[in-house]
Amino acid sequence: MPDKATGIAHGKIILMGEHAVVYGEPAIAFPFMATPVEVKIEKAATPTQIISSYYQGPLYEAPRSLNNLGVLIQTICKDLNQSSDHLSITITSSIPAERGMGSSAAVATALVRALFAYYDESLNTSQLLKYVDLSEKIAHGDPSGIDARVTSSDVPIFYQKGSVFEPFTLNISGYLIASDTGLQGQTRQTVEDVAEQVKCSPDQTLTLIKRLGQLTLQAKEAIEKNQKVTLGHLMTQAHEVLQQLHVSNDRLDRLVDTALSHGALGAKLTGGGRGGCMIALTRTKKEAEFISNKLMEQGAVNTWIHALGADNEE
Ligand code: MEV
Repeated sequence: MPDKATGIAHGKIILMGEHAVVYGEPAIAFPFMATPVEVKIEKAATPTQIISSYYQGPLYEAPRSLNNLGVLIQTICKDLNQSSDHLSITITSSIPAERGMGSSAAVATALVRALFAYYDESLNTSQLLKYVDLSEKIAHGDPSGIDARVTSSDVPIFYQKGSVFEPFTLNISGYLIASDTGLQGQTRQTVEDVAEQVKCSPDQTLTLIKRLGQLTLQAKEAIEKNQKVTLGHLMTQAHEVLQQLHVSNDRLDRLVDTALSHGALGAKLTGGGRGGCMIALTRTKKEAEFISNKLMEQGAVNTWIHALGADNEE
């Protein structure tokens, strides 16, 4: 057994289909390599410790918000017939927490990989997803599973709950800006609120959810045909539907408006909403840089630029 081991994962961006994916509609998401996560495990003389920017101390005293990781460690060690004691677990994450970038799923993915490597056990994808889904259920209530799949995937995915996710080539020439509002998103709350709307006004809410599903399918086609203007329009339309589902907020809307008024082809919130991040599509890197600066002037706390296709012009 090695005396130390690491596991890695990365953040994610949902391009289209957040919230609707919880109700069986399709979604498109891609791994966001600009935000890596690493979990390192070493033997410790003390009871199991967590060392992270968020909490440092014994696992048994960790805050409730880390319950998912505690349950994950206990479950995996039990399944592997190993002790969950005397581990030093260091989490180094560059994903801003609670910003719709899949932080909880990415940390769980890296932790599962690190534990299996530490105990010298092989891990297949379905085992990994089973454990990350368990952790995500504790963190988010009723997740669709998209975050678990994309934070552990090296390629973009087209995902529909209940089916095996499909790798998807996001080969469209264009640039995507991701921008952080600086406000903690509220995935658990927004998912619960949409569920409440489905209960109280099913016809109206399910129509909006179906509409998001159609927009995702149209976006898939636009990507396959390299139609970035169309993709941009579809993204903006998706944002409008998400507004009608009450999962946006003023800060997200302001950043979306800023991107659009400075020439973005489309813009929308990404992830759970009511805080967290938004994304915008541009033709060129120069436009993306210009819009990023405008977003920062309007209060964004961080922006990232991601080249979507292989043959992008500068
Ligand atoms: C969160 O990243 C995406 C949501 O659709 C929730 C989920 O799919 O579990 C809002």
